[in-house]
Amino acid sequence: LVTDIRLRRVLDSRGNPTVEADVLTESGGFGRAAAPSGASTGEYEAIELPASEAIAAAREHAVPRLVGETYAGNQREIDAALRAADGTDDFSKIGANSAVAISMAAAKAGADVLGAPLFQHLGGTFRGQNFPIPLGNVVGGGEHAADATDIQEFLAAPVGAPSVADAVFANAAVHAAVADLLEERDVPSGKGDEGAWAPSIDDEEAFEIVDEAVSTVEDEVGFEIRFGLDVAAAEMYDDESDSYEYESAGVSRDTDEQIEYVAELVEEYDLVYVEDPLDETDYDAFAELTDEVGDRTLVCGDDLFVTNTDRLQEGIDRDAANSILIKPNQIGTLTDAFDAIELATEHGYDSVVSHRSGETEDATITHLAVATDAPFIKTGAVGGERTAKLNELIRIADDAT
Ligand code: PGA
Ligand code: ZN
Repeated sequence: LVTDIRLRRVLDSRGNPTVEADVLTESGGFGRAAAPSGASTGEYEAIELPASEAIAAAREHAVPRLVGETYAGNQREIDAALRAADGTDDFSKIGANSAVAISMAAAKAGADVLGAPLFQHLGGTFRGQNFPIPLGNVVGGGEHAADATDIQEFLAAPVGAPSVADAVFANAAVHAAVADLLEERDVPSGKGDEGAWAPSIDDEEAFEIVDEAVSTVEDEVGFEIRFGLDVAAAEMYDDESDSYEYESAGVSRDTDEQIEYVAELVEEYDLVYVEDPLDETDYDAFAELTDEVGDRTLVCGDDLFVTNTDRLQEGIDRDAANSILIKPNQIGTLTDAFDAIELATEHGYDSVVSHRSGETEDATITHLAVATDAPFIKTGAVGGERTAKLNELIRIADDAT
């Protein structure tokens, strides 16, 4: 039985306040989790409130419905109580940040009561024994860095890695190789919000550099590494002119040109993954691109689906993509995230469990990815709030062998 829920403001990786929740149970169980925060957020995401407002609203509406009333081990009951306490579709009353922090903290308390690791509590003993391949952000811009690439993320994908640890270190090596290549070209660079290099170059040069960095590391490690993109195209789409604006390159593309451009990139660079290549409202354009390249690359909906089963069902009905990004805070609870993964799996869509650009040390997403047998996890390549997830993945895999 949940006996206490404590909520507080803590720092996220951008230095902004975010919600942290502690859940305590009668039998001495304890769980703590913190909400992440997006910068290139989807229009259809659940609502993040300012942390102090979210905390006040959750204390007033959610805590009384949970304390003394629910069991931490019963995740569906916890999450249903959060939904009932909020009463809206988008968690605009208590904030998706309060909801997701409480939901994840309750899961950890439930695992603590069982004395089981979180992934086992969430996924059960008979879950699959596979580990997700980490997608590592090595170069980026968009909403995550000023004056850098138009495409938001260039993601290393060590698809041939023989182990989780090899995969994690390969991504870090690609990140380092990119730094070497930037130095060779005399391009100075800071880092964006997710730890990726954020040089003031256009996308074309970024493709050259990432392609070379990936090949170099591939030769060193002796297994296949490819790469992919998060275009985050909704951020560059202007619906008045129906065009995608590539500001650093000074190029504008209409929807048909955007589809052709991305299809060519998939071809030229043998991309393994393309996230949000088109605007978040344009199921038709997504479907066209998926029809063209979906047999050879993952076309993934992030802002398109926002971890929402209704939006995913629409995508499935219209053959809009073949994979979905899963971010628990886009929808508000672990139950909702699980339901989205289940629906995706049922229809042959791959799930990619993901961090946000604003993160904390919380590693719940790692356990979620392992519990649900997700083929990929997207959580950066370097930086403490990113390595918190990657190192947890290494530990889980290590314990399993
Ligand atoms: P966000 O970006 O966390 O800033 O929304 C990540 C993404 O678009 O995948
Ligand atoms: Zn994205």
